[in-house]
Amino acid sequence: MDYESSPESVLSEFATRFAGQYTGQAGVRPRLYQAPGRINLIGEHTDYNDGFVLPATVDLYTWAAISPRNDRILRVHACIDDRTVSIDLDRIAAGKSGEWPEYVKGVAWSLASQGLRLRGADAVIAGNIPLGGGLSSSASLEVLLAFALLECSGIGMERRKIALACQRAEAEFVGVQCGIMDQFTIACGSRNQALMLDCRSQDFELVELPAKAALLLVHSGVRHQLSAGSFNARRDECREAVEILGSVLPGLESLRDLGRDQLEDHRALLSDDLYRRCRHVVTENARVGQAREALEEGNARRLGQLMIASHLSLRDDYEVSCPELDFLVGIAAECEGLWGSRMMGGGFGGCTISLVDSDRAEDAAETIRKQYGRKTGHEPWIHVVGPADAVSRIKDVGKDVGTSTGAVAAS
Ligand code: GLA
Repeated sequence: MDYESSPESVLSEFATRFAGQYTGQAGVRPRLYQAPGRINLIGEHTDYNDGFVLPATVDLYTWAAISPRNDRILRVHACIDDRTVSIDLDRIAAGKSGEWPEYVKGVAWSLASQGLRLRGADAVIAGNIPLGGGLSSSASLEVLLAFALLECSGIGMERRKIALACQRAEAEFVGVQCGIMDQFTIACGSRNQALMLDCRSQDFELVELPAKAALLLVHSGVRHQLSAGSFNARRDECREAVEILGSVLPGLESLRDLGRDQLEDHRALLSDDLYRRCRHVVTENARVGQAREALEEGNARRLGQLMIASHLSLRDDYEVSCPELDFLVGIAAECEGLWGSRMMGGGFGGCTISLVDSDRAEDAAETIRKQYGRKTGHEPWIHVVGPADAVSRIKDVGKDVGTSTGAVAAS
């Protein structure tokens, strides 16, 4: 989304768009909500294979100023393209895939399919998570809206269930067959800690992020489009491999259940592509466990090595990297005090994440900026990861926004 947005700008946009337009329960003061983006230390393309991931919330956000209405109309204005859409909650129809209104509709559709009756609302949304950066801007929007709309409607729901409803919105309404990592992290993550998440059971533990280490995000400038099909194609390949291997390995439900030895024993059944896709998932799941141990031991060097191994596997076996991401990982390897780097998220563009000694983070960022600029002709967006809470309502902001007299009816 647009990088200049802030909670205050969202509120003032709300005042411009919607102030004085209420009928019935007129002038309800908007509430402000924020949802973070997410990073992932390691565990890429494992979530939809029932495997393990190690993500965390990041201090990049989507915001919504929202106020309930007395009817079943959901009006949402997005600052990114200065567009307002009006959705009748009783008649939700799919539109052009990949555009932001589809995520809004998808969330409403998913909650309604659980028999929940949402109240209409007016909302303004904006954020500063780079789109298509592998930082889960779409999941951030979904979880934000679900959280806010449920509160506006006076409906309580566990965070875990909100995450599941949003994943369903993305997979079944928008059509990107993602796993649970993004929505889960944004709904259930915790400041300064990574989530060691078992995507099958959805059990998770919180693990401290490495002390004295900084995490650096660098955007390649190549915007990935998950709905473009390559993501779903990988998912289909995994399903196909499970089907083939399941014929000789009874009980194999997903690639999570596949051992490295079993994969080698039955390699002949698979095409070379399918074999390498499986090898990525099997070895990546193992790396997540090792990374967690490295975190517990405070061993940043080891964690960095695992991140590099993850990148090579994503590049060579899973084939979801691109030359720009590979180049960024290559530059990072030459920076003093930088322990490891890899592409992050779905791939085909977006960001790299690097683990660097916090005293060297600025120097590393400078080196990467210069070298990438020289090679590509444009300065990369770079962000040092800061702590962030999971989705929440921001209190005490917007007291002065002149839209309202009443209090929000729903709690
Ligand atoms: C995207 C998906 C996630 C996950 C990652 C790859 O971000 O939304 O569910 O599959 O790609 O690890």
